[in-house]
Amino acid sequence: MTAQSCSTAPFAQAVLNWYHRFGRKHLPWQQDKTLYGVWLSEVMLQQTQVATVIPYFERFIKTFPTITALANAPLDEVLHLWTGLGYYARARNLHKAAQHIRDEYQGEFPTQFEQVLALSGIGRSTAGAVLSSVLNQPYAILDGNVKRVLSRFFLVEGWAGDKKVEDKLWTLSEQVTPQDQGADFNQAMMDLGAMVCTRSKPKCDLCPISQKCGANLTDSWRDYPNKKPKKALPEKNSYFLILADQGKVLLEPRELSGLWGGLYCFPQFATKDDLLGYLHKRGITQYQEWTAFRHTFSHFHLDIYPIYAELQDKKCDEDRTDWKKIAESQEEYQSSLSSRGKYWYDPTNPDQIGLATPVKNLLTEFHKRKL
Ligand code: ADE
Ligand code: SF4
Repeated sequence: MTAQSCSTAPFAQAVLNWYHRFGRKHLPWQQDKTLYGVWLSEVMLQQTQVATVIPYFERFIKTFPTITALANAPLDEVLHLWTGLGYYARARNLHKAAQHIRDEYQGEFPTQFEQVLALSGIGRSTAGAVLSSVLNQPYAILDGNVKRVLSRFFLVEGWAGDKKVEDKLWTLSEQVTPQDQGADFNQAMMDLGAMVCTRSKPKCDLCPISQKCGANLTDSWRDYPNKKPKKALPEKNSYFLILADQGKVLLEPRELSGLWGGLYCFPQFATKDDLLGYLHKRGITQYQEWTAFRHTFSHFHLDIYPIYAELQDKKCDEDRTDWKKIAESQEEYQSSLSSRGKYWYDPTNPDQIGLATPVKNLLTEFHKRKL
């Protein structure tokens, strides 16, 4: 065993051994490596697959053999060469960074991490990838491939877009990256993610770190990296009035446009006070609060507070006549949709009308309590 392999942790050693046998070493930007070439390739690879990038990289480097040549070219020419690669902000940033390098560093790509990080379009991972790849500086990287390998191996919980989770992944990446072989190790991790620890159906049986990999040992690669959590839905309240009279219940149709459009519902109120005010106007002072429950729509939660009351004799004759009139027009209503309106619904003899699910469940409840 060489001195070097003794000082390298088993994780890194296994990944490096795999890389020496199976990793990619013949990509165009890996030959006669330069900071410019590797920077260009890393930017192109940020959102694009290796196979697509290769011909673009070769045309680009041929057209602009130096950073100064790139900086002196009109932006339109740069964008023209980028056509088809997508994410054109990458090309604009590349051009801007090239001009900065021409003006501040005499056209030589900087070698200090902070200087590289300050260039347009270069983040922590790209800066680390370039400096480790070309100068073997001991920087860790964290691109999509590395995130996937690490979150599976260490069973990292949480969405990587979350700052705390990203920090955790960076710490892990730093811990596994060897001080002396950053170039090969980083390339190995990217290759492992692209070739073995793939998004779907990773080839765990070909993976050099499978014996200690948490996702492999628990057969849970599907769960890592964790997906972006669904946005918490807003919450709204609604007070449903279940108003009964002689075994029937008052229902009203909803506006055709909007939520539950055209379905029948109980009268609804935004607050309990609104609902009680409605009852008080009709001389109704007694009511029961039924158990509240939640109905979830695609874009919000509706917390439903059902309040049950009965129409009281005498006190609301006026309303009652009104409502009775409505009830008398029921047959008419059923033969003609145009006369839809409020009416007394008979749960023992239900009409063929559309009911919102929570209303349907509450009517079942109402019917049960009456038996
Ligand atoms: N994705 C980003 N950088 C890469 C690289 N150097 N090799 C392979 N895939 C990559
Ligand atoms: Fe990925 Fe499987 Fe290797 Fe774990 S064992 S790192 S899940 S390929």
